[in-house]
Amino acid sequence: MISEFGIDEGIYEVIVSTKDLFNEYNAAPMGLISDTSTLFFMIYTDTRTFTNILETEELCVNFVFDPLLYVRSAFSSLPRELFLEDDGIVFLRDADAWIWGKAEIDEEGEPRRVTFIPKKWKILRERVRPINRGFNSVLEATVHATRFVLTGDERYMEWIQHHFGIIERCGSPRDKEAMEELKKYLREYSNH
Ligand SMILES: Cc1cc2nc3c(=O)[nH]c(=O)nc-3n(C[C@H](O)[C@H](O)[C@H](O)COP(=O)(O)O)c2cc1C
Repeated sequence: MISEFGIDEGIYEVIVSTKDLFNEYNAAPMGLISDTSTLFFMIYTDTRTFTNILETEELCVNFVFDPLLYVRSAFSSLPRELFLEDDGIVFLRDADAWIWGKAEIDEEGEPRRVTFIPKKWKILRERVRPINRGFNSVLEATVHATRFVLTGDERYMEWIQHHFGIIERCGSPRDKEAMEELKKYLREYSNH
């Protein structure tokens, strides 16, 4: 059952994989919101994820712990070889687990509420995940970076710098690689 996934009330940062009507794949970090009775997302309508869900009415939630995948999927299109397709379900090759299901989109709202109805799920590998503040800071810095790019508000850069400090101090080599990639996207944006 889905209880195996340990989803309690709260917001869980996952990577959502989707496809369009031409079978082009897409992935992006999204917050899966769980309240007492439902699972849902709040998704901005200018994202590929939203357009794909509108076309296919389905999505796949990926439980992934590679910090670089969060940075890359937020700021670029992941190459096709990073996805796998099984029985029509598109998920990330590096996912530890996935939940595929139907997506019901509200009539209005920005961001738009998308209710998620799980249909199939799989745990591919179970491993110990020691908590590292560096990984959490990559997520925080990436969220702030997506908002900075959207709004140009310099306050986000201060928060990003704070998280870069934590990544320097606590992060794994992969967290630091993700941070360098994030810096690259931020530089590209600033040079525009
Ligand atoms: C950890 C994290 C969580 C995010 N959660 C959401 C979310 O819940 N809804 C949303 O619209 N965007 C969210 N974003 C921003 C999107 O990932 C970002 O806009 C992305 O570029 C959308 O990609 P797409 O156009 O390929 O769908 C989040 C970003 C990060 C890093």
